[in-house]
Amino acid sequence: MASSSSVLLIATALLVVLISVSFSNAQPTSSSRPQGVALRVTKDASTLQYLTSMKQRTPLVSESLVIDLAGEFQWVDCENGYVSSSNRTLSCSGKECGWISGASCGRPPRPPGFQPCRGFVYLSNQGVFASDVVSVPSFNGTKKGPEVAVREFVFGCGSTSLLQGLAEGVKGIAGFGPFQVSVPSQLSLALRIPRVFAMCLPGSSSKGVIYIGGGGAGRPYDFTKRFQYTPFYTSLVGPNFTSGYYIQVKSIEIEGKKVPFVSDNTTFDSLGFMKLTQLSTTKPYTVLPSSVYKPFISIFTERAKTLYNIPSVAPVAPFGACFNSSRITHSKVGAMVPFIDFGLHRETVEWRFQGTNSMVKVSDTVECLGFVDGGEFANLVIGGQQLGDNLLEFNLAKKSLGFSSTLAEMESCSTFELGENTLSATS
Ligand SMILES: *[C@@H]1O[C@H](CO)[C@@H](O)[C@H](O)[C@H]1NC(C)=O
Ligand SMILES: *[C@@H]1O[C@H](CO)[C@@H](O)[C@H](O)[C@H]1NC(C)=O
Ligand SMILES: *[C@@H]1O[C@H](CO)[C@@H](O)[C@H](O)[C@H]1NC(C)=O
Ligand SMILES: *[C@@H]1O[C@H](CO)[C@@H](O)[C@H](O)[C@H]1NC(C)=O
Ligand SMILES: *[C@@H]1O[C@H](CO)[C@@H](O)[C@H](O)[C@H]1NC(C)=O
Repeated sequence: MASSSSVLLIATALLVVLISVSFSNAQPTSSSRPQGVALRVTKDASTLQYLTSMKQRTPLVSESLVIDLAGEFQWVDCENGYVSSSNRTLSCSGKECGWISGASCGRPPRPPGFQPCRGFVYLSNQGVFASDVVSVPSFNGTKKGPEVAVREFVFGCGSTSLLQGLAEGVKGIAGFGPFQVSVPSQLSLALRIPRVFAMCLPGSSSKGVIYIGGGGAGRPYDFTKRFQYTPFYTSLVGPNFTSGYYIQVKSIEIEGKKVPFVSDNTTFDSLGFMKLTQLSTTKPYTVLPSSVYKPFISIFTERAKTLYNIPSVAPVAPFGACFNSSRITHSKVGAMVPFIDFGLHRETVEWRFQGTNSMVKVSDTVECLGFVDGGEFANLVIGGQQLGDNLLEFNLAKKSLGFSSTLAEMESCSTFELGENTLSATS
């Protein structure tokens, strides 16, 4: 026990060192220096995955990619039709290979000569790391800028079989995690723009955007004025060590009524702290451990009946609480249902989820509470349904998350769409 926790501590310390290693003399490189990069985001209706696209290779080819907020790097299918004159396999002794967790020269015996950088590309699949040119749309203030090229962008080379389970037409995954080789880290480094990205995932509208280099300012309305901030942590120490963006959720309240947390080992760690909550773009709905989910849905159902006179109906999987939609009225913030407040690191910092983020229409007559039961051992994970229609600003240097709560009252993520020559549509 003692030794396994010290191993974890060492692993965490190493990760922190890896992440904070100086970026000064690093590649990739780019010729121009825009204010930032703006990537469009859409949501795939069948998988509920969030997609973006980037141009890669020489000559450039646009690739559709699944966004993984916790992903370490970008990987693409190199097996099927990857043709590029600028593709370069990374050497296992090069510094870039050292940036990728677990990547190395591979086990001996090795053939003589050049040794490629090998490591896990996706799940438990081994692959080789390479670098190539990518080209991304830039912005300057509220104006759309030119496409900017980044040479020697590091990515993993995966096989076609790894695309199984991903949205149709997708060529790989773009990792936006707190890592040195993630998409925002590499682009920030190459373009010398701040290590900050702002994400507005599609929710009530089908369009969203990710700004790398800054984001909330410069619109008709300055969304950063709405921001509340909470620190994020980059790894979860525990038996299942993983990395990503984690925040503290200390309380859950449903329109004024607290959801009781049982102080057991599933919700709290061995030191008595509530386990950190991950933000995930690959989980469509917020996941709660059973011990929290059960009181959560029963309080929500009671509040819906008492305050809004909305009767529940038989639940539809994967949801545990569903309602008769003919009894629900709708407004700009979605279904008029009890609002849900997540109390974060301080009591005064609350993330509010209203109907647009809490309710999912499953049929013409039924809407369900878009939160799911992850089982006894699940950690709290905030998923896509709850992240949509929010402007979230990840400051990688300060390890701080700025969040707007729902924008739907006055705007939606589509306001941030790239227009012909302006980023924001109208005020
Ligand atoms: C950004 O816009 C400002 C004002 O329009 C201009 O002065 C500046 O040169 C632009 N920067 C780039 C990199 O295009
Ligand atoms: C690009 O590099 C990867 C990694 O070495 C390799 O597997 C792939 O075959 C290369 N593709 C081309 C077209 O050179
Ligand atoms: C760790 O992960 C394993 C395998 O996914 C799972 O069975 C186990 O319950 C997890 N343990 C905790 C404490 O989350
Ligand atoms: C919960 O954690 C405490 C402290 O680490 C430990 O002593 C206890 O055995 C754990 N209980 C269960 C059910 O795992
Ligand atoms: C939903 O409410 C309407 C109107 O009150 C009622 O006619 C219908 O039977 C209800 N549906 C269910 C599934 O309870």
